[in-house]
Amino acid sequence: MLGSLRMQLVTFAFHNLSPMNIREAKFLMSNTRVEQCPAPTLPEYAFIGRSNVGKSSLINMLTGHKGLAKTSSLPGKTQLINHFLINNEWYLVDLPGYGYARVSKDARVKWGRMINYYLRQRENLTCVFVLIDSRHEPQAVDLEFMEMLGSEGIPFVMIFTKADKLSGTRTQQNVADYLRKMQETWDELPRHFVTSAEEKTGREEVIEFIAEVNRQLAEEGSDA
Ligand code: GTP
Ligand code: MG
Repeated sequence: MLGSLRMQLVTFAFHNLSPMNIREAKFLMSNTRVEQCPAPTLPEYAFIGRSNVGKSSLINMLTGHKGLAKTSSLPGKTQLINHFLINNEWYLVDLPGYGYARVSKDARVKWGRMINYYLRQRENLTCVFVLIDSRHEPQAVDLEFMEMLGSEGIPFVMIFTKADKLSGTRTQQNVADYLRKMQETWDELPRHFVTSAEEKTGREEVIEFIAEVNRQLAEEGSDA
């Protein structure tokens, strides 16, 4: 019985990785509804995780544009679905955080609905980056969120953030503990990255991952 409860992952196969330059990153629009989002004609990568985990900071670090996504030390800064166009080739999306207790219940319910609807309806959504604070023990709200992605068949990878806040050894230990916890539920572990927006750690790995997925999509498209 337990076996049937274990989660299946939607994974990406890899060949060789080569770097991608972010030549251009521009803010397009903020929305509350999928219907108003840009036409779903390009691959889309969405950044999600608890409020204050560092989604907007990571987007700025990856794109090399400091003020592109709005950041704040106060949780609840990002409140809408924000689309950015990268190299005229793919969309990057900054989403509000989930599970933050000090945000009013009404706002939490509203954002939760907005995020869930977006995740289920956005047809060009290619991969979700689930951000996890590398300092903390596994939290139920994150584990449940990833299980929801698994049961909806939405591909995701994990990004452990704020790696500069602890020693390298402590961060690695926390990541290993987290993955061990995930093994209780998942047949296969998702791919994961360790990042620091502060020290620009993990930038190349994440960008190369996106480049490789984009390449695969383009190949599949040209085969069709
Ligand atoms: P919401 O939009 O409120 O959901 O938050 P968010 O996940 O977008 O977080 P944001 O990027 O606004 O960062 C929250 C706080 O964490 C800010 O004070 C950032 O400066 C800080 N922060 C984010 N990433 C890092 C990091 O890698 N290292 C350190 N030291 N601080 C970080
Ligand atoms: Mg934000």
